[in-house]
Amino acid sequence: MTGSKSSSPPLNVLVFGASLRAESLNQKLAALAARVARGSGANVDLASMRDFDVPHYNGDVETAQGIPTAAKTFRDRLIGSDAFIISSPEYNASMPGTIKNLIDWTSRFRPQPFDGKHGLLMSASPSLAGGNRGLWSLRIPLEHLGSRVFPDMFSLAMAHKAFVDDGIADAALGARFEKNVQAFLSLAEAAKHYPCMKRAWVEFLGEPPGVGEDRVDPVPS
Ligand code: FNR
Repeated sequence: MTGSKSSSPPLNVLVFGASLRAESLNQKLAALAARVARGSGANVDLASMRDFDVPHYNGDVETAQGIPTAAKTFRDRLIGSDAFIISSPEYNASMPGTIKNLIDWTSRFRPQPFDGKHGLLMSASPSLAGGNRGLWSLRIPLEHLGSRVFPDMFSLAMAHKAFVDDGIADAALGARFEKNVQAFLSLAEAAKHYPCMKRAWVEFLGEPPGVGEDRVDPVPS
C-alpha cells in the first residue's frame, strides 16, 4: 500500500539489524523485512549495526570532541527516512548495550531525531520467546524520545532453525511476518501524508516551561 502502488511518493524506510555479528540472525530478519518493504513499494535503506559502531557514551568526550561520526551517520540516515525497522537481539532479557549506547549518542542531537518517527521492532533468537523481552526494553528509550513504536512486534523463535534460503521456513509464520511489516508500513504511510498535531519535543512534558531548554526542541515554523 506504499508508494509505487498508489499515487503518493514512496515511503523511505531505514531497516537495520542491531547486532555486530557477521552471521547475525537479526541481520537476516532485517534483510527479510527490507524485501517485504521493497515489495510494498518502499525505498529501503538497509543498514547494519556495523555501520553505526560508536564508542561508549562519555559526556567528557562529547564536550571535547562532539558526537561521533557513526552516530551522525545514523542520525542522517534516520532523518532521511520516514520510518525505521530494527531487528534486535535480546541479551540477558534486555536490549544489547550497543544499541542503547547508539540511541544515547544519537539522542544528543538537536533537533532530536527520533521524535515523531514511526518504528517497528523485531527480534530473532534461538530461544522459544524469540528475544521478545529485549524489544520491550528497546521500546522504552525510543518512546521516551518521541518515536511512535508500532504495537505489534515480531519475534522469531528458534531462529537458528527458522530460515530457509529465501525466507522463513514455516509458510504461515512467513505470511504473519509479511502482514506485520505491511501493517506497519500502512500506518507509517498514513502518518506521512496526514501528520498529527504534535509539533515540539519536550523531554519531560510536566516540566515548567523554560527549565532545561536543552531538552526541548522548538516548534518548527
Ligand atoms: C544471548 N542470547 C539470548 N537469547 C535470548 O533469547 N534471551 C537472552 O536473554 C539472551 N541472552 C544473551 C546474552 C548474551 C551476552 C549473548 C551473547 C547472547 C542469545 C542470542 O539471542 C543469540 O546469540 C542471537 O543469535 C544473537 O543475535 P544475532 O547476533 O544472531 O543477531
